Amino acid sequence: MTSMTQTTIVSPAAPSALLSVEKLHAWYDRSHILQGIDFHVMPGEVISLIGRNGAGKTTSMKSIMGLLKRTAGQVRFNGIDILATPAHQRFHQGLAFVFEERRIVAGLTVMENIELGVIASPDGRKRTREIVEEIAETFPRLKERLKQDATTMSGGEQQMLAIARAMAAKPTMIMLDEPSEGIMPKLVDEMFEYFMLLKNKGVTILLVEQSVEHALAISDRAYIMDQGQIVHEAAALDLLDDAEIQERYCSV
Ligand SMILES: Nc1ncnc2c1ncn2[C@@H]1O[C@H](COP(=O)(O)OP(=O)(O)OP(=O)(O)O)[C@@H](O)[C@H]1O
Ligand SMILES: [Mg+2]
Repeated sequence: MTSMTQTTIVSPAAPSALLSVEKLHAWYDRSHILQGIDFHVMPGEVISLIGRNGAGKTTSMKSIMGLLKRTAGQVRFNGIDILATPAHQRFHQGLAFVFEERRIVAGLTVMENIELGVIASPDGRKRTREIVEEIAETFPRLKERLKQDATTMSGGEQQMLAIARAMAAKPTMIMLDEPSEGIMPKLVDEMFEYFMLLKNKGVTILLVEQSVEHALAISDRAYIMDQGQIVHEAAALDLLDDAEIQERYCSV
């Protein structure tokens, strides 16, 4: 682990990686944003993507999920090249994405929002009740509010719901874009305890998180992005101690 501290060379993807991104480019219209990024995530790893505003973190996640019109390169998930696969099929293959802007459905209760996630999953329809109950047990805050209109909850609770809804589909890997954004500290701690629980269950996580301390505390490794490129890779523990790198790339 310690030998990775100083390297800026991104290690080559192992053939057994769950997610392997190679020379990935992405554009918004004519703006060329991702400049050929390479990184990988091993099964069960928690990986952080770190970088200043506009570095390309969200664009990376959207590209991996299949939400951008124009991308090039290679994205392999479970060994299969998915770059040409539509987003909903990527989801059915076990890839979930929680947007920064939560997208909770107004007018539906908390329970109905969770059910949406279950219904969308490949074998969810058969086990809706079981999955909703399981989710409710894991998130006591949501359990108390199952019948409440989801959008009447606090921002933090809605974020929890967005995560619960994504997890209801039992993804192999979940991508979380700034989950703690605008949320009170107590809920952030609760949320990260839940991520730790997911990690212990073997769920693979790709995380973008403003609070670098929170992110690195649960991460195995991190990649640092700058101007649409990956400029550094390190073990999370090493990065926590690396004031220079943090100063250079992590402050907003
Ligand atoms: N819909 C869009 N149309 C055009 N350009 C965009 C669009 N979304 C993002 N960009 C540009 O792409 C670049 C990368 O943005 P991205 O949202 O991926 O950054 P980020 O690392 O997630 O930043 P932040 O920390 O602010 O969320 C930025 O220069 C941004 O202005
Ligand atoms: Mg972003």
